[in-house]
Amino acid sequence: MKILVTNDFPKVGIDLLSEKFEVKYNSSGIQMTKQEMLDEFPKYDAIVSSLVDNIDEEILNSCSNVKVISNYAVGYNNIDINSAKKNGIIITNTPDILSDTTAETAWALLFSVARQVVKADKFIRDGKWKGHLGSEFLGRDIYNKTVGIIGAGSIGRRFAEKTRGYNMNILYHNRNRDLEFEKQYNSRYVTKEELMKESDFISLHMPLTDETYHMIGEKELALMKETAILINTARGSVVDQEALIKALQQNKIYGAGLDVFEDEPNVPKELIELDNVVMLPHIGSSTTETRNKMAELVAHNIINILEGKDPITPVN
Ligand code: GLV
Ligand code: GLV
Repeated sequence: MKILVTNDFPKVGIDLLSEKFEVKYNSSGIQMTKQEMLDEFPKYDAIVSSLVDNIDEEILNSCSNVKVISNYAVGYNNIDINSAKKNGIIITNTPDILSDTTAETAWALLFSVARQVVKADKFIRDGKWKGHLGSEFLGRDIYNKTVGIIGAGSIGRRFAEKTRGYNMNILYHNRNRDLEFEKQYNSRYVTKEELMKESDFISLHMPLTDETYHMIGEKELALMKETAILINTARGSVVDQEALIKALQQNKIYGAGLDVFEDEPNVPKELIELDNVVMLPHIGSSTTETRNKMAELVAHNIINILEGKDPITPVN
């Protein structure tokens, strides 16, 4: 049987799949176009997809041979799940194993923004450090502050866990109230509006769905404190990026830390010009340990299904 790997993928995963199947690997670093997916997918029994592959109804209707698409990501907003179901194609993702790593990325961004780490590093590299800085690079304390978490799933929980040691007051908002989350992290369930108003730091951990699209827009940003920081490691489109740029340009908030953008890999010039934002190129789960675990899970999902067993982590 034949497997297509659409994009950059760890060697452990390629090796596992190659032991059993014929593997075609696009290692060019250039993502496949829609036309290429339409032309190529029908030739394979299984696909390893990446989060930049927009696998829509037309593509899913065209690949009757494909039994499984194993997405190398926890988020699967890039795949039309209903059309996959109609076509009898199983979709799998990589939940849980990347939750700590992604939560740590959110914290890395939070610390970087709160203490102006990137701006200060650049200051040294630019040769601007001439003497003691008594009243510059004034950051924000994290200890004793209020943190608001939107999305109380696996990554949101790991983010909450990591507040230990910082004596934080934890607020959260989620589609449904989660009593276990409240108890475990001593947190308070609030409306989105209360969370925006009261938090010193806001971290987003919800999936991108029709309901969460632009969940943080002009109105929500306007509720934030001028000293507050927004961290997004979820998906670019849960935030209205243009509204965020305006808020940052006008110093309506202290800053933002972004691992995700609305039209990746395109980052608007306006963001590049701002020094109150720290940006990462969507590498939230990118540690050696976690990426290898994800690749193994992706491969084992495919192996299971092609060998007639149950998938490990199906989403449909
Ligand atoms: C990364 O964004 C993922 O969904 O795994
Ligand atoms: C976020 O609010 C969610 O519904 O998970």
